Amino acid sequence: MKIATILGTRPEIIKMAPIIAEINKRGISQIVLHTGQHYDKEMSDTFFKDLEIPTPDYNIHVGSGSHAKQTGLMMKGIEEILLEEKPDIVLVQGDTNAVLAGALVCAKLHIAVGHVEAGLRSYDVTMPEEINRMAADVCSLMYFIPTYDSAINLLSEGISRKNMFVTGNTVVDACFRHLEIAEKRGFEEESLRDLDIENMDNILTLTMHRAENVDVKERVTSIIEALKDLSEMNIIFPIHPRTKNTLKNFGLFDELNNLDHVHIVKPIGYLDFLLLTSKSTLILTDSGGLQEEAITLNVPALTLRYNTERPETVTAGGNILVGSDKKAILENASKILTDEGFAQRMKDAQNPYGQGNAAQKTVDAIEKYYDEGKLNIQAPEDIMNIFTRKMAAIDEDITVSEFEQKENALIHMVFDGQNMVFPHDDLNINGMMITYDKRL
Ligand code: UD1
Ligand code: UDP
Repeated sequence: MKIATILGTRPEIIKMAPIIAEINKRGISQIVLHTGQHYDKEMSDTFFKDLEIPTPDYNIHVGSGSHAKQTGLMMKGIEEILLEEKPDIVLVQGDTNAVLAGALVCAKLHIAVGHVEAGLRSYDVTMPEEINRMAADVCSLMYFIPTYDSAINLLSEGISRKNMFVTGNTVVDACFRHLEIAEKRGFEEESLRDLDIENMDNILTLTMHRAENVDVKERVTSIIEALKDLSEMNIIFPIHPRTKNTLKNFGLFDELNNLDHVHIVKPIGYLDFLLLTSKSTLILTDSGGLQEEAITLNVPALTLRYNTERPETVTAGGNILVGSDKKAILENASKILTDEGFAQRMKDAQNPYGQGNAAQKTVDAIEKYYDEGKLNIQAPEDIMNIFTRKMAAIDEDITVSEFEQKENALIHMVFDGQNMVFPHDDLNINGMMITYDKRL
């Protein structure tokens, strides 16, 4: 079997690293393809070193540009490589343009796609990421899903649960493995050493890069106004290149940089960043990965967004959505700082993203599909395989798989009276409403 992995940005490198390492450990043939969307040393190279994975076999060097330009160039480059390499499955991760490009190319070449971190939905179609992940899920064969909530999103879109694998998120694998290494090593980055982070209190780690925040002057100004008033915190801000550019264009960079309690540093390596996060009193962010890492490391998070495709972190109590609203940022930050009980409840929020074995579960599932010949994408053999979509109220003791056998059907959705629940094979559906496809 040959597995190809496509990645292109900082979070994809971090979250695919545990899977790449697991594939290597099992001696499975693999190629890694970098789209080149992130290209600065501190946004790319540094992560291969910190996460101890080999440098990619290919780099398409698409660089920066409009969505259409980036996606188009990626598709062209990816297609050429895949035609040559002929992998059995291609893995894409998350919601960047690489995911869209990779998934579309594979769908047209009839190559199986495995979507890592599938099923997340913010239901905000103005986010490029929402379109990318939805399109990738249409093109995928295997879904590696962080939580059952995300699996239910996919079920609602008509995707068969038979191809879903609820694995947890590989960010937890990376976090657990590398925090220990980082703690032993200590801070390496000079800017952090100079700040003597080890002996600093009230650390607020800030990251932001979402287009809907940093490209909109009104929003970014409101966030900066809040930062000005957070003078009791030591704000460490490893600045994303996109954000640096826009703050400079808006004429806001110097104003922020001149504040005594705000320390703007360049993007930092994964080990240093994990260490910084773990020592923080509070995370203020619009990053997806950081919302997950905060709850994994028991650090309260305030998310600079009005919605999130990671609602589990909010319902668990570890994350609060504050948008770009100055009042909401200040009130919640001050509560975390002054109300011990409140802060503790946020820290105690249960991590919804698994035990740190997502990579193992992912590669197990791929090996099983390969052995069973399920990675071959083919048109249905039985052209008379017609089905009708039905709904029913169940009033007998019967499990999902017993019902499916009896009715020659596939159950999609199950409602327990209040909520949608995941249709595990052995779930007794007595008293529940179901929707299903019935084969004729
Ligand atoms: C991309 C992803 C986003 C992800 C983020 C992770 C898409 C649509 N967006 O956003 O989902 O959360 O990565 O960080 O795929 N730049 C540099 N050096 C670099 C990379 C970028 O200077 O190495 C600058 C360029 O000016 C570029 C800008 O940052 O125009 C934005 O980069 P881009 O890759 O388009 O999007 P991100 O904001 O990084
Ligand atoms: N990160 C890092 N150094 C930094 C900022 C972030 O190593 O200076 C890591 C962080 O630990 C997380 C990931 O980058 O795992 C998040 O990436 P980003 O916020 O760029 O993207 P998103 O997760 O929002 O797609």
